[in-house]
Amino acid sequence: MGVNGSRPRGFNGTRYAHIIGWGVDVPEHVMTNHDIEKLVETSDQWIRERTGIHERRIAGDRDNVVTMGVRAARRAIQRAGILSHEIDLVIVATSSPLHLFPATACLIQDRIGASDAGAFDVLAACTGFIYALGLASAQIKAGMIDTALVIGTETLSRLVDWSDRSTCILFGDGAGAFVLKASDQPGGVQDVIMHADGSGADHLYVGSGIRPTWDGEQTEQRIDMNGREVFRFASRVMSAATEEITQRAGLHVEDVDLIIPHQANVRIIQAAARGLKLPMDRFFVNIEKYGNTSTASIPLAVVEALESGRVGPGDRLVLVGFGSGLTWGAALVEWEVEQTPGSVMREAMQEAYYIFAYVRSFLRRLFRIVETVVFKSHRVKDNTRKRRRGPDN
Ligand SMILES: CC(C)(COP(=O)(O)OP(=O)(O)OC[C@H]1O[C@@H](n2cnc3c(N)ncnc32)[C@H](O)[C@@H]1OP(=O)(O)O)[C@@H](O)C(=O)NCCC(=O)NCCS
Repeated sequence: MGVNGSRPRGFNGTRYAHIIGWGVDVPEHVMTNHDIEKLVETSDQWIRERTGIHERRIAGDRDNVVTMGVRAARRAIQRAGILSHEIDLVIVATSSPLHLFPATACLIQDRIGASDAGAFDVLAACTGFIYALGLASAQIKAGMIDTALVIGTETLSRLVDWSDRSTCILFGDGAGAFVLKASDQPGGVQDVIMHADGSGADHLYVGSGIRPTWDGEQTEQRIDMNGREVFRFASRVMSAATEEITQRAGLHVEDVDLIIPHQANVRIIQAAARGLKLPMDRFFVNIEKYGNTSTASIPLAVVEALESGRVGPGDRLVLVGFGSGLTWGAALVEWEVEQTPGSVMREAMQEAYYIFAYVRSFLRRLFRIVETVVFKSHRVKDNTRKRRRGPDN
């Protein structure tokens, strides 16, 4: 909020949505292509050559979309130098939620103590993070909120049929988060485009059927995919979406410093580069380490690009994704981080606040149990009294 509670507006009334914090989390367990050779008939060489993937992370028993999402969010909040109760909206993009409802966003909102925030999930498969970024930045620019937390978090390894060599080689687990904040300084998330074509829904979906998991258990769901069709679609829309979003801003693709694409297959990224007539060094690729982590893939790539110095203030980025639905989309970002310098004091306050949030959540649950017991005993007493008085009293 600005002075006297007014929302920050530039002299011409324009609000911008800057990405001021970012964080990721990946499970410790690394599964290499050689590990997959033991599960299905494939080879490290085939997987590297046909996909670019060398290894991926697999969530252990104690990890899930909430625990990983919380860790990524806490890192993003720390980097942003804000306190979690300042967040107005939590949007989680996930294709592998713990429950159909409640939303994963609500579970994360509770764990991080974003007590003043609304929270909901977006389901647009691997394009989900772009969609969520579009929703959050639009809310900020419209003046409806000031601060948003956008998270992509996945345990796709739990939806994969580990006896299907055409899909099990591709996917991995992980989470990434951005904090977005209103500013009167130009820059930040400038534009987002979202597209869908449900006529291609049967090319990539989660179907049912008992299948083995990677550790020998059974799962009732599995990812089904027509790899060649998805490949063709993806190669086409990656370049089309990049062109569309740059043209809308009156730019050429050559004006973009770095394109950070959804990491699904390095050959799809190469096809997009050919389509756009750009060299591969204009694209950021880290698929070799993580495979396809769906909604987590773009934030995982952005954070790595930042940490490796490939992105700096003033850089113009296109984030571009595609996925089941079929869905696709892109975001144009000017990386002008308006950074509130994180202070040790503020970090300590936030740490204390996490403990407070945990205790508050525990007490609220306890209160609900007590309330239920008291309410129940009142009802029993009322009914007993009614019975004693007889049906007419
Ligand atoms: C899945 C994918 C890697 C397959 O690669 P491809 O080059 O298209 O391979 P094809 O499906 O044409 O299969 C070629 C051959 O390799 C075989 N093959 C498939 N998977 C294999 C594997 N893991 N190891 C060894 N051989 C494999 C096929 O059986 C086929 O053999 P055949 O010619 O004897 O029938 C590729 O199509 C792809 O990445 N598609 C996009 C998937 C995607 O991005 N999904 C997520 C979207 S968010």
